[in-house]
Amino acid sequence: MGPAPGWTDKLLTGIDEIDQQHQVLFDVAARLDLAVTSEEKWSAVHFALVELTNFVNIHFAVEEALMRLHRYPELDAHIADHRKFSRELAEIKAHSIQDDVSAKMTDLVRNWLVEHIGKFDRDYVPHLRTAPVSKTKKD
Ligand SMILES: [Fe+2]
Ligand SMILES: [Fe+2]
Repeated sequence: MGPAPGWTDKLLTGIDEIDQQHQVLFDVAARLDLAVTSEEKWSAVHFALVELTNFVNIHFAVEEALMRLHRYPELDAHIADHRKFSRELAEIKAHSIQDDVSAKMTDLVRNWLVEHIGKFDRDYVPHLRTAPVSKTKKD
């Protein structure tokens, strides 16, 4: 099985855990494509959207924790872009209950992934590689 549509090695950050998660996100987006054309469309689309939302939440939590740990100065802007996407996903999910979900929606998801990873995620890489881990603990 080759890479999922939309994924290219240009999106690699060099941080293994992050790169694996990004590739899973494209895999899940590809499953959403399949769901859109499946016979049991509504339940398949709904399941794929739940899967995507769950994994997006996990990925955002991991990235945000890493950026916090390294005291990344652009943390707030990065989190804002994550939240914007979460809101869009929630809208798509709500929309999918009433209306037909088209392949256009998956394109939207994929475009966001490509743009966010290529810009916001790429930007934290040099900082995460060089800045020391913060010693401050909350507990
Ligand atoms: Fe990411
Ligand atoms: Fe991100």
